[in-house]
Amino acid sequence: MASSAIDKLTNLQVNELFTFSSPNLQKNLSIFSADQVKLVKMLLEMGQEHLFEDWPDPGVDDDEKKCFIDQVALLDSSYPGGLTSYIKTARELLADSKAGKNPFDGFKPSVPSGEILTFGDDNFIKYEETGVKQVQNAAFVLVAGGLGERLGYNGIKVALPMETTTGTCFLQNYIESVLCLAEASCKQTQGERRQDVPFVIMTSDDTHARTLQLLESNSYFGMKPAQVKLLKQEKVACLADNDARLAGDPKNKYRIQTKPHGHGDVHSLLYSSGLLKEWKDAGLRWVLFFQDTNGLLFKAIPAALGVSATKEYHVNSLSVPRKAKEAIGGITRLTHKDGREMVINVEYNQLDPLLRATGHPDGDVNCETGYSPYPGNINQLILELGPYIDELSKTGGAIKEFVNPKYKDSTKSTFKSSTRLECMMQDYPKTLPPSSRVGFTVTDRWLAYAPVKNNPEDAAKVVPKGNPYHSATSGETSIYRANSMILRKAGVKIEDPVSKVFNGQEVEVWARVVWNPKWAVTFADVKNKVSRANFVSQKSTLVIKGKNVAIQDLSLDGTFVINSVDDAQVKVGGLVQNKGWTIETIDKENTTLPEEVRIRGFKINKIEQLEKCYSKPGKYSLNP
Ligand code: UTP
Repeated sequence: MASSAIDKLTNLQVNELFTFSSPNLQKNLSIFSADQVKLVKMLLEMGQEHLFEDWPDPGVDDDEKKCFIDQVALLDSSYPGGLTSYIKTARELLADSKAGKNPFDGFKPSVPSGEILTFGDDNFIKYEETGVKQVQNAAFVLVAGGLGERLGYNGIKVALPMETTTGTCFLQNYIESVLCLAEASCKQTQGERRQDVPFVIMTSDDTHARTLQLLESNSYFGMKPAQVKLLKQEKVACLADNDARLAGDPKNKYRIQTKPHGHGDVHSLLYSSGLLKEWKDAGLRWVLFFQDTNGLLFKAIPAALGVSATKEYHVNSLSVPRKAKEAIGGITRLTHKDGREMVINVEYNQLDPLLRATGHPDGDVNCETGYSPYPGNINQLILELGPYIDELSKTGGAIKEFVNPKYKDSTKSTFKSSTRLECMMQDYPKTLPPSSRVGFTVTDRWLAYAPVKNNPEDAAKVVPKGNPYHSATSGETSIYRANSMILRKAGVKIEDPVSKVFNGQEVEVWARVVWNPKWAVTFADVKNKVSRANFVSQKSTLVIKGKNVAIQDLSLDGTFVINSVDDAQVKVGGLVQNKGWTIETIDKENTTLPEEVRIRGFKINKIEQLEKCYSKPGKYSLNP
């Protein structure tokens, strides 16, 4: 096989190969096919001979050697331009990094234009209405391939309960929100809907099997399985040094060490999967990208989509008000002296030096609003499909990468550990022409952003003072706060929160108000369903799981759970008083409790409740 494989190469190629390679490698070529030999040749040409250094003679570990070449083939085929391109780019970026080159050199920052929303005002409601109509023309893409190293949770993040009052996990909330928004969209446009709204999840080897299992064991949370597509991203090769020599896996000399390439992979995967074209042919107009653990996101999606449609944005970045120097990136317009221009996320540690270097001696400071004029990026993007496809047809979905080596010392000649190229989905606009319509939508932070990224220790000690914890504790308490504030805005009297410390983090504890997306996906829905004088005390829990539940003259001091089928018309009110469900502080080291509870530092103690179930169609009224 070996000699026949080499026979298929031209004599010149064989000679070149033999000149390049060590006698040891030459002997091993005999175990490879012609295509595999070409991959070996490519590696040698790209200065990667060290990968074969310790290979024993043929006959020893041949299966492992074949696995090695299979891995090389995968790394080559899953990267736009192949491994040659990966290594070349790595050399350039590593040289820039060593030279301390700033990727934004020559660019001048300025504040881009966008829409700043105030929750609940007429403008917000108008955008929500426009956005809901557009949902039937949208596809939703969840990036969920990350390792979640900072959180350190043993499961996948999308399976975590976003709140423990009902135990609903992130994925369930996302899917139900999409289903309910699609239904509302269909209703608003009187059934123009052409097809089920597509839902894509980008996974990785770290998350794929468990994501699929979560979907399958929960009947896809009510979505049709064909509506959900999983796209698995591959990892990329690690780099051992400034020459971009690929790093061997410390656990197996026949493998190259690999690490995640970042969420920017979502663009090339969507493009190569053919889904974008399918969606365009089906008449879709929008692609919405979002992340694994933001339980508030869908509260801002309808209005932001409305902004995209009204302003005809090709790219719309959902953002929140940002305090100067806060550790989130700022959406910035960058203009180069050579004419290049882009609206892009600039990481907070780059924004301050960039501003100082370009005529803003105070750097990253707040303006008269008390916030930075550069909106805070939360990495939720809405792209218009047509221009998106046009752009990806040019780039194949490749996103500008970066490298972040941790050097051993100031000579920057060796790394503490291997590094790799990475790319971020929000860097997509970097290659767009200046004529592209790139904007942002700012919404209140309490409404739209409470991701779960940090473990309790880091949240309590490492997160710089004044920055949000972004922990399981703050993620859950933010949901109660947002729901309470929405009800307040709709006229419900909600008692003020109390301050508590869980897992070393001080948070506001509001009444535990939770509803499923069937009840409300927009503020207009909420307003339509609460009327007259309602009151909820701070110790209360209110759970609404039902489509047609009207709250009227309710006075709640305890726990009230309402379940109803879609065809039941339920009106609830009157005084509900009981011992309720309390929030009990727990010790995060208490291993008798599940990990998803320990990372919050509290558990819900269900002492007493009023629970009403309406399981048959009909009209019901409750005034206990
Ligand atoms: P994060 O920045 O939260 O990264 O990713 P992470 O990998 O999940 O967590 P750390 O940094 O290891 O702690 C933001 C979003 O991008 C997805 C994550 O799943 C999350 O939804 N992501 C990240 C990917 O899909 N692929 C990647 O390679 C990286």
